[in-house]
Amino acid sequence: MLLTVTLNASVDKLYLLDGNTLGTVMRVKEVRNSAGGKGLNVSRVAAQLGESVTAMGFVGGHTGRYFESLVTQRGITRAFTNIAAEMRNCINCWDLSCGQSTEYLETGAPVTAEEADRFMADFAALLPSADVVAISGSLPRGIPADFYATLVRMCRDAGKLVLLDTSGASLRNALPARPDFVKPNTDEIASLLDFTPRTRAEQVETVLTLHRNGIACAALSLGAEGVLVACGQGVYQGIPPSIKPKNTVGCGDSMVAGFAVGMARGLSVTEQIRLAVAVATASALSIGTGEYAKDDLDSILPRVQIHNL
Ligand SMILES: Nc1ncnc2c1ncn2[C@@H]1O[C@H](COP(=O)(O)OP(=O)(O)OP(=O)(O)O)[C@@H](O)[C@H]1O
Ligand SMILES: [Mg+2]
Repeated sequence: MLLTVTLNASVDKLYLLDGNTLGTVMRVKEVRNSAGGKGLNVSRVAAQLGESVTAMGFVGGHTGRYFESLVTQRGITRAFTNIAAEMRNCINCWDLSCGQSTEYLETGAPVTAEEADRFMADFAALLPSADVVAISGSLPRGIPADFYATLVRMCRDAGKLVLLDTSGASLRNALPARPDFVKPNTDEIASLLDFTPRTRAEQVETVLTLHRNGIACAALSLGAEGVLVACGQGVYQGIPPSIKPKNTVGCGDSMVAGFAVGMARGLSVTEQIRLAVAVATASALSIGTGEYAKDDLDSILPRVQIHNL
């Protein structure tokens, strides 16, 4: 079972509009509501890949109950921790006339110390039945900065593989706990290092440094150029075929799902990379976030190139 952790989940509202002008009344053509948060994207993609998933995180209030009603995909078990405050909404206004999107992200209510403790107890109870754990996204207010480091240590102590996909201080603080896998993108690595690795040599050096500092599988995702991975077996680049993307938001989450499923199945590193790149690229061809079409995945899998650098 893959255990996913999304502490800062939300109800995501996608507004489809014919034009979006500030300071006027806008009529929304269509509304699509979904259970949002990076770990929910990971959960949906991993479940679609056939893995059994248990999704954890905080939910609260009426919005929290509505959120849970949106987590209906087969293969996902809900194991959220209830909090008193109302859960947040995130609104994405998608202007169909030009393809531009404008996002309004609520900060979310703070989590209390007692609620954080309750989550820890829930996590400790579920951890023994997990094969792999994937922790994604930002920390809600009220949660201590070393929370991810604590979760990662619990996973390592229990002998469970743990993937961590976060950014900024939450990533920096958790690295000493040595998650088995991290996957910053170019912006996230730049903010971590205060330096943007631009050449391929600099990018390779970056993943190698993370690996030498104790990250068993250190990945740097490069959008259309795929992913660089440094691990015990060497340094690899996984390159997707050229596609016309429809929506690249959440592609990194789909990639994390691919790695998590690959690890849970005991695939070789190169086969993990192939699955991760293929499912991430297939999800770029899907309008929805955290979903892909099986035909796209099947056609992309054999066309992913894996280079040993
Ligand atoms: N334009 C594209 N063409 C082909 N594949 C893509 C494209 N964009 C993304 N991908 C695939 O998705 C993977 C992850 O993309 P990216 O580096 O943009 O992740 P990210 O920035 O973490 O995304 P997010 O955080 O929104 O989920 C890439 O390594 C690649 O396999
Ligand atoms: Mg990402």
